[in-house]
Amino acid sequence: MDYRVIEIKSTHYQDPSAGHLSFVEAEHDLPFPIRRMYWIYGAEKGTHRGFHAHTLNWQLLFCPFGSIDLILDDGETRETVTLDSPSKGLILTPGLWREMIWNQKDSILCVAASEYYDPDEYIRDYDAFLAFRNSIKNHKQE
Ligand code: TYD
Repeated sequence: MDYRVIEIKSTHYQDPSAGHLSFVEAEHDLPFPIRRMYWIYGAEKGTHRGFHAHTLNWQLLFCPFGSIDLILDDGETRETVTLDSPSKGLILTPGLWREMIWNQKDSILCVAASEYYDPDEYIRDYDAFLAFRNSIKNHKQE
């Protein structure tokens, strides 16, 4: 499936109680420029969100606090990636259906996206998503 799990660069103080620092640089660490960032916070354990695909956006998802399952679907298979460390990143290409489940209350989901917000770039209907995937597949076979 067209996603990649990355280890986000992190530095560690000699005294671990002073915390850690993680960082990403657009285009150096990511295969896209960052035009937008957003984050989801304040969600209860068991929250189930997402239920959409993007036609244009490349994204980096990471969870700086807590644990969130990302369920990814390319129209043929479903895979789950658990974001449970501030140094774990998930790069998603356009065209993947995603759902997120909060494993822990107040987990934070951060997203860096390649495009500005555009509601027309979302697919929110699963049957429309399958039709979109089929149209890509047929286009590639031509
Ligand atoms: P939405 O993408 O629908 O989130 P979810 O599918 O997880 O519920 O976004 C919720 C609202 O936030 C919607 O009214 C649009 C707005 N929004 C922006 O204005 N800019 C953004 O970058 C995002 C992601 C959402």
